[in-house]
Amino acid sequence: HQAFDEECDYLFKAVLIGDSGVGKSNLLSRFANDEFRLDSKPTIGVEFAYRNIKVADKLIKAQIWDTAGQERFRAITSSYYRGALGALLVYDITRRETYESLRKWLRELREFGNDDMVVILVGNKSDLSDSRQVEEEEGKKLAEAEGLCFMETSALQNLNVEEAFLQMITKIH
Ligand code: GTP
Ligand code: MG
Repeated sequence: HQAFDEECDYLFKAVLIGDSGVGKSNLLSRFANDEFRLDSKPTIGVEFAYRNIKVADKLIKAQIWDTAGQERFRAITSSYYRGALGALLVYDITRRETYESLRKWLRELREFGNDDMVVILVGNKSDLSDSRQVEEEEGKKLAEAEGLCFMETSALQNLNVEEAFLQMITKIH
């Protein structure tokens, strides 16, 4: 790893934000290690994962901060955003309240995030279409109004996960 670090052209910091239980940690473990857990525990504070990616001819080390959705585990929020070039803002398509919370998360992003941060809005758990409470069109509309990219994903079925992270990383580029 050391050798790669020295050859790495860029280090990108990005953050995962959104309500508790929307699947942030599983999106990240799918992206970083191709792992998924049905019984994952809420994140306490913040966890990290890395993945090295080649974009065009550049080697990029993506450092992803997986933050706690639960208020009581969110400590130093401003430090989560410091230096972050990208964010995945995640809601759960089967829980409408996680979509309603997006306003709050967008306010936080504007307060603490960099002005030119690349933000991708992610509607996760697309595999659970039978219990869908938020239409894909609603995600699209909000993203358009806020000037964000949008994607529905499934960490469980590994749908669009790679695409969401790569879109963020290549847009930063
Ligand atoms: P906090 O750490 O508390 O903020 O939650 P989180 O957003 O990290 O959620 P987490 O990844 O821990 O997932 C919560 C629950 O949703 C777990 O039981 C996961 O197995 C489940 N889950 C995550 N992604 C998916 C998905 O794409 N489909 C389905 N069906 N379940 C998912
Ligand atoms: Mg988590």
